[in-house]
Amino acid sequence: MIRAYSNYQLRKHHTFGANASSKYYFEFTEAEDLTGFLATNKDWKNLPVLILGEGSNLLFVSDFEGIIINPNVPGIRIVHEDRNNIWLEVGAGVVWDDLVEFAVSHQWGGIENLSLIPGKVGAAAVQNIGAYGMEIQHQIESVSGFDLETQTEYTLDIVDCQYSYRDSIFKNQLKDRFVITSVSFKLDKFPEFILNYGDLKSETEKLGSINLRNIRKAVIGIRESKLPDPKVFGNAGSFFKNPIVESSLAGRLLETYPEMPHYPAHEIKTKLAAGWLIEQCGWKGFRRGDAGVHDKQALVLVNYGNATGKEIFELSEEIKQSVQEKFGVELEREVHVIGI
Ligand code: EPU
Repeated sequence: MIRAYSNYQLRKHHTFGANASSKYYFEFTEAEDLTGFLATNKDWKNLPVLILGEGSNLLFVSDFEGIIINPNVPGIRIVHEDRNNIWLEVGAGVVWDDLVEFAVSHQWGGIENLSLIPGKVGAAAVQNIGAYGMEIQHQIESVSGFDLETQTEYTLDIVDCQYSYRDSIFKNQLKDRFVITSVSFKLDKFPEFILNYGDLKSETEKLGSINLRNIRKAVIGIRESKLPDPKVFGNAGSFFKNPIVESSLAGRLLETYPEMPHYPAHEIKTKLAAGWLIEQCGWKGFRRGDAGVHDKQALVLVNYGNATGKEIFELSEEIKQSVQEKFGVELEREVHVIGI
């Protein structure tokens, strides 16, 4: 199925829910639809391209004067299995949490801690989504799609994807160029549970025995208690990444703020909690008009109704500046801002 529009309203296509439109919009469900469209519509080559999933990590500050390509490819297919593992090929348009539910209901482990993360499978592979001690890169085998620049279809194996914390080749060299159509996963029939993040273990134990279903329920409970539902208040989850700083800077900050959350990262680096830094600057629960900072998790910016993308972006810049001034730490956006 193909949907092609011009001057297309995007409000329902990104979870911040700010008004913005796209000059052109093209959505397809089968990989061949894309090649057919590109062959017959040569004009796209002169336009900026944006590849969109569910828009759960995007903020539009202005209209998009280009073409949006939405690879809404469905389907979860079992490719292969052995005694210990199962290999799945999953369409880029599958809702991420539907895949987690599918895996948990079949007793296949590896992605249960990533329950309820908004977005679709293609975007999850771009973003290397992570939560509660798990990152999607550890279950991905390969990523397939179409390269708009070379006009070829190919598959990248896990090394080619260049994954690191909330980062991949799809956010760098292949940004706005590689349209992911499917992602292959390897899941475990006898998973080792990862329960060492925060209260996940105790929240799971409250539900009875430790199994995939209860871990999923516990993660959903924790997320719902901290993170706003994008269907109720527009948001894109964490607006910033947790900063990874020189351990010497972290050490100096710890002398003044011994309670500051910090986690070792690489050899001489330390990861800090952006939510904590933002809260210390007094932003938690702040609201100006309809743009605000969530009152239970300061890393999440919220559209309470009719905030514009520009208002949310300006608020984020003020937050960034105050964290820089107070702590000497530069926050990097996790959300992809369009139009600046
Ligand atoms: N904290 C505060 N104040 C806040 C928020 C957090 O003091 O307002 C402190 C917490 O008390 C804790 C630490 O900061 O000591 C970390 O907080 P939390 O466990 O809530 O996780 P996070 O680092 O803020 C990251 C991910 C989330 C993911 C959670 C759980 C990033 C940018 N964010 O948040 O991912 O759900 O861990 O694993 O890495 C997302 O990417 O959109 C997202 C929600």
